[in-house]
This record gives sequence, structure tokens and C-alpha cells, in this order.
Amino acid sequence: MMRCIFRLFARSAPTFSEARPPDAASIAALHKASFQRGWGEDEVYRLLVDNTVVAHRSMSGHTMTGFILSRMAAGEAEILSIAVAPRQRGRRLARPLLDLHLRRLAGLGARAVFLEVDEHNAPARALYRRAGFYDVGKRKSYYQSGASALVLRRDLG
Ligand SMILES: CC(C)(COP(=O)(O)OP(=O)(O)OC[C@H]1O[C@@H](n2cnc3c(N)ncnc32)[C@H](O)[C@@H]1OP(=O)(O)O)[C@@H](O)C(=O)NCCC(=O)NCCS
Repeated sequence: MMRCIFRLFARSAPTFSEARPPDAASIAALHKASFQRGWGEDEVYRLLVDNTVVAHRSMSGHTMTGFILSRMAAGEAEILSIAVAPRQRGRRLARPLLDLHLRRLAGLGARAVFLEVDEHNAPARALYRRAGFYDVGKRKSYYQSGASALVLRRDLG
């Protein structure tokens, strides 16, 4: 009985690790569930085999629950996308995923990380603010909805 309970919890506890090309289909599915313009599996695969791209995932057992991808260039990184599965949101999965990712980017030599976020995306803005990102710019009416994009920066190291 105790062993069954232990296994149940062990299976559902989130784990965080590097994402690899075989994860392309799961990442594409999560991306489609999270954004209006979803990425196709081929598009994600091309990113995952690109050696300037850094990718991490959160897993619950064999199920992917979240991902984050960045591109590195000239000592800086840009977060291309981060998403958590809709049913898993609000459980603080994104925080450890982002922390791991930022540590890896710093380890690879990135001195600063940039990203764009919809000004109305409250969960994402809260996530980034808590992780130490600050505003460095605004692109007015950047999204199809008419919303502006905030450009955020986080210094590393
Ligand atoms: C943004 C996203 C990755 C956050 O993932 P998550 O695992 O749900 O995030 P967390 O549970 O760690 O919560 C992050 C913060 O958002 C806050 N938050 C969660 N839901 C919220 C909501 N509906 N409104 C306002 N804040 C909210 C949390 O309280 C937390 O802030 P805190 O630490 O200051 O309390 C997730 O919402 C998502 O996948 N959204 C769709 C894709 C997306 O918008 N990606 C970002 C593109 S820039």
C-alpha cells in the first residue's frame, strides 16, 4: 500500500530537464494549446537541432507539462517561447523551469536575456517580474489584438 502511494506521488512530481529533438511533437502540441499561431512539429524540430537554441522541459511522469526555448547570440539570449499545459497552470511549474533555464544560459556565457510579452499577459508578467526581469522597451500595437509588447531584460551573472 505504502509503495503504491509512493509510486503515485513519484510519478506526478514534476521533473525539469533539457529538451531534445524527440520532444518536438510534445512541444508543438503545448505551443498550439497556448498561442494563437501555433508552431508546427517541423518548426520545433528545426529549433531543437539548432545549436544556438537552448531548450528545457517539465515532465510529470512521461507527460510533458511545460517547455521553454531561447536562442543565444553574441553573449545574449532571447526567450523565444515558454508555455505550461493549460491544466497545469497556476501551480508554479513555470518558475523552476525558468530558473533552470536561466542558470543554463548563464553557464553558456549569456550576460543578458531578453523577451517580448503581451502587456495584458498578467501570469507571464508576474512570472518574469519575480524572476528579476525589468522593462527596457515597448512595441506599440505589436500583436494582432492591438496589444503592445513589452520588451523585458534580465541580467545574468
Ligand atoms: C505564463 C505561464 C508560462 C506561467 O506558467 P505557470 O506555471 O502557470 O506559472 P506560475 O504558476 O509559476 O505563476 C507565475 C505567476 O503568475 C501568477 N498568476 C498565475 N495566474 C495568474 C492570473 N490568471 N492572473 C495574474 N497572475 C497570475 C502567479 O501568482 C505567479 O506569480 P507570483 O509568483 O508572483 O505569485 C503560463 O500561464 C502559460 O503557459 N501561459 C500561456 C503561454 C504564455 O503566455 N507564455 C508567455 C509568453 S511571453
